[in-house]
Amino acid sequence: MMLHVPGVLTPEQVRDIRAALAAAEWVDGRETVGPQGARVKQNRQLPELSPVGRELGQSILAALAKSPLFFSAALPLRFVPPLFNRYEGGENYGLHIDGAVRSVPVSNIQLRTDLSCTLFLCEPEDYDGGDLEVVDTYGTHEVKLPAGDLILYPSSSLHRVHPVTRGARVCSFFWVQSMVRDDRRREMLFELDQSIQKLRARVGDCEETVSLTGHYHNLLRMWTEV
Ligand code: NI
Repeated sequence: MMLHVPGVLTPEQVRDIRAALAAAEWVDGRETVGPQGARVKQNRQLPELSPVGRELGQSILAALAKSPLFFSAALPLRFVPPLFNRYEGGENYGLHIDGAVRSVPVSNIQLRTDLSCTLFLCEPEDYDGGDLEVVDTYGTHEVKLPAGDLILYPSSSLHRVHPVTRGARVCSFFWVQSMVRDDRRREMLFELDQSIQKLRARVGDCEETVSLTGHYHNLLRMWTEV
């Protein structure tokens, strides 16, 4: 399941992050991929250990913690700290699947990448090209979102970033290990949770919403790995 999470960052937060990124030192994006990815990847990134990047990454995770929609869809257990990339002058990232396991710098923790996230930090009209194309079981989806919005998709999906032919595309990207490993189970829990919330908004709390919420938690208990 792909999910668009709007308004993760306010316009002011986007502006502050962009200002900090403009003053930061960027490196070749091939530093953070394996040999297969390196053959198809052309962009710039902030170094993984960049103090500016780490601080901005923490502010993004803090903003994300306030999004019930993100939590409901991702059921996050651990995050790879957000990284930052920039594509311009025809740069692109060819078709690939993200590595299954990533090390979190400094901490010695490894996590399984269940979900990939891209948080857009510039407006779609600021650049041409640069669409994120994700291939899933229902076909191919091209995504280009407003600044401050995030797209969440299974890390098992083939995806690419089309060449940026005008302007620059600046994004943050990161991975989530979910409490629920299986995409289909996670999607069912998300749909159940969203339906319960809509029902509760329409009719208030009643015996049925209490029962459905109980089933939600019992399924989560059955499927959670922590
Ligand atoms: Ni990727």
